[in-house]
Amino acid sequence: MKYFIIISLFSFFISSVSNAQSTEEKFVKNCFDFALIQNNMMMKEIVPSDNAFPRTMKKDGSLYCTDIYEWTSGFYPGILWYLSEYSGDASLQDSALKWTEKLEPLKTNTSTHDIGFMMYCSYGNAYRITKNEKFKQLLVQSADALATRFNPKTGVIKSWDGFTSWHDGKKYYFPVIIDNMMNLELLFFASKVTGNPVYKNIAIAHATTTMKNHIRKDYSSFHVILYDTVSGKPIKGETAQGYADNSTWSRGESWGIYGFTMVYRETGDAQFLKTACGMADYFLNNKMLPSDKIPYWDFNANMVGYVPGNKSNAWNVPVDYRDASAAAITASALFELSTYCDKEKSKKYLDAAKEILHALSSPVYRAKEGTNADFILMHSTGSIPHNSEIDVPLVYADYYYIEALHRYQLLLSGKKLFDDSQHPINKK
Ligand code: GLY
Repeated sequence: MKYFIIISLFSFFISSVSNAQSTEEKFVKNCFDFALIQNNMMMKEIVPSDNAFPRTMKKDGSLYCTDIYEWTSGFYPGILWYLSEYSGDASLQDSALKWTEKLEPLKTNTSTHDIGFMMYCSYGNAYRITKNEKFKQLLVQSADALATRFNPKTGVIKSWDGFTSWHDGKKYYFPVIIDNMMNLELLFFASKVTGNPVYKNIAIAHATTTMKNHIRKDYSSFHVILYDTVSGKPIKGETAQGYADNSTWSRGESWGIYGFTMVYRETGDAQFLKTACGMADYFLNNKMLPSDKIPYWDFNANMVGYVPGNKSNAWNVPVDYRDASAAAITASALFELSTYCDKEKSKKYLDAAKEILHALSSPVYRAKEGTNADFILMHSTGSIPHNSEIDVPLVYADYYYIEALHRYQLLLSGKKLFDDSQHPINKK
């Protein structure tokens, strides 16, 4: 009898664990299937052309697309790669290829740091999935273009060629934004496939300098650091898309969590892991984080002690809009970060990633079928200071949401997120 009870309890335990898992697997499948439905509708609106890169929704509810030169052009091809990988649909892979190949002229574009986003989300996924040598060469060329923006004196890659302060209209010529951490993945890739360490050395220098100057003691972050190219030193921190210079713009914090997690993956250097965890804890423990874990657009918006620049539109927006894009980026990053930490932190980050994914997939953030200009997520914020893209769908929110689903699916099936044997942390 005693044995019968023990065996029954054991089988009950095993079956509830596997049921719980299959519930989550069904959840991921449901989310991916919905993404496919929305995307099928979006694809009826556009054909691959130089001006057909989905970005957001116009005021009249229709789809707004950009040309290839906007920083967001790589996300839609990236979405198509993830969806074709999930579905195994050859026609979707064909579309992914067509949209990706439109971006080829960018491979020599030295005018923006965003070449990392543009090329690695598109061609990076293309190479990951197809292993086509042509894509590899193209990514290395793109890394060469990005590397031209590195200045050894400042120790960082220049983000924009100029930045105009919200305070007084003064112009600065070596601004670096926290977002730039994301572009380093392209450089690490180039070193791995060529064996030339020059790319990864630039990436490590950039991450190290960013850690010193962008990240505050409490692991909050400046959006922009303005550098003096003569002394090589930071002049000061300001904001472009956040509420105030001393505030923490939510998507900036998300780029940092994701970026430092990736740099830890590529270097195995514990200081980057500490920074990624510090930033993740700042985000998750923040008393301003709503209970559904989808952040307001800035952790300090409309708070005493934080003052926007005179010319910023942030003065005119008393509403604390959410930013689903910051949440999606954070969820994707936390799935990865959870695989590098001790048991307690790993559980904290994994649970948070799941909670964010469930919240984003609820009717509060996930659009109804056939609405939202066929994007998946509602309620993202582009830039309140610029009075641009407020409370709308954004293609990068959908991209990182789908990437988070992809990562969660891998973890649920017991697979590694990154199989590459050249990643230092996989060698340990
Ligand atoms: N990288 C630009 C943005 O996050 O809005």
